[in-house]
Amino acid sequence: MEEKPTRRRVVLVPVPAQGHITPMMQLAKILHSKGFSITIAQTKFNYFNPSDDFTDFQFVTIPESLPESDFDDLRPILFLLKLNKECQMSFKDCLGHLLVQQGNEISCVIYDEFMYFAGDAAKEFKLPNVIFSTTNATTFVCRSVFEKLYANNVLAPLKDSKGQQDELVPEYHPLRYKDFPVSCWATLESILELYRNTVDERAASAVIINTASCLESSSISWLKQQLEIPVYPIGPLHMVDSTPTSLLEENKSCIEWLNKQKVNSVIYISLGSLALMEVNEVMETASGLDSSNQHFLWVIRPGSIRDSEWIECLPEEFLKMVSRRGYVVKWAPQKEVLAHPAVGGFWSHCGWNSTLESLGEGVPMICRPFSTDQKVNARYLECVWKVGIQVEGELDRGVVERAVKRLMVDEEGEEMRERAFSLKEKLIASVRSGGSSHKSLEEFVHFLRTL
Ligand code: UDX
Repeated sequence: MEEKPTRRRVVLVPVPAQGHITPMMQLAKILHSKGFSITIAQTKFNYFNPSDDFTDFQFVTIPESLPESDFDDLRPILFLLKLNKECQMSFKDCLGHLLVQQGNEISCVIYDEFMYFAGDAAKEFKLPNVIFSTTNATTFVCRSVFEKLYANNVLAPLKDSKGQQDELVPEYHPLRYKDFPVSCWATLESILELYRNTVDERAASAVIINTASCLESSSISWLKQQLEIPVYPIGPLHMVDSTPTSLLEENKSCIEWLNKQKVNSVIYISLGSLALMEVNEVMETASGLDSSNQHFLWVIRPGSIRDSEWIECLPEEFLKMVSRRGYVVKWAPQKEVLAHPAVGGFWSHCGWNSTLESLGEGVPMICRPFSTDQKVNARYLECVWKVGIQVEGELDRGVVERAVKRLMVDEEGEEMRERAFSLKEKLIASVRSGGSSHKSLEEFVHFLRTL
């Protein structure tokens, strides 16, 4: 098919959360470097303030009046359902204005899989629309089969808090019921409603996924067979574009601290931008880290300890334990931290970006997932890629100490580091010229030019 001239405009719609804004902005930078003009349509909630790196982009605001507290109160699933309803009409108006302003220059709307109102608006204007999955392909598969499994009662064990939770979901090896991407903050019915909307790919023009075939070949093949539209696995995008995209200010002093530590001697702890911990969990973690005798760099995000601004609610003992071998910051330059030679392990909630960033630097992980796709990622880290140790059940100091020693001191951890290193090499190869993600990205760009 003949390619049209470049610098056609693409409208991108991210979910207003750090873990979704980052891959969307990376994609935007890559498409811009390929000759496309970029419009970012974002909510005023969690607004990404563009730095000088984005001066060539147009930013527009989708009007909405969601109270700030909704994000914390509703937790992801219910918040996303409400956000989609809230933006349905306003985005249509917004896109209508853009079409008047830009004439026929707009070639496509690319939207985060959870911002499906943007797909609906694009369809109304007869614009091509592309779903961007910022989580992994296996979670996409789970969402695609969710309704069928739910209707056939296969997911009934999910309603039961103990019972069959440890059993494998038939045909979805190695996922157990407890690994299925659901959230303890929402009913199965709300999850079903969200997933039904996110995987309604029938009217979309294509799906792009921030993953690589060396990580999830069978899930990618399944999607390519089942979806009737092209599927492009184009990740990990952070290995193609490294423009900073943090909503919070990064504390770079931790790099100076890391510079003073020995190779592979530090465990980095971060739970991403949404997860919350109870005070007793923070104290048990601190105590376990202390008795493991390992050095640690710990991100404690403001608001991430329940009912507390930061660490002021913690007993004095906390600071004593941390001051011996640790360093605490509110927000770190995570990619730089993971690339630092002193970092030998990552204690993570297993958000997909953190997972990709750790694999991309060959750093094995301790997995402590909280919700939805994080549980799938943790299971893959432990059972498929074999570069992770999952910590399940109640968190106590003994559990923390054992997990940290297994990863940082034992032979087992060394073997995981070797496997993580070889996975890193495969990921580097996949984004290089001739690699599978590189080819997929080229094909996607060609596809965009022919729209
Ligand atoms: C959310 C979901 O929770 C996650 O499951 C989903 O896969 C993506 O959206 P989040 O919980 O924030 O994301 O986790 P993650 O995907 O890991 O994204 C966090 C991002 O924040 C990463 O890119 C990480 O590099 C960055 N980060 C985190 C920092 O830059 N500094 C920090 O101190 C902590």
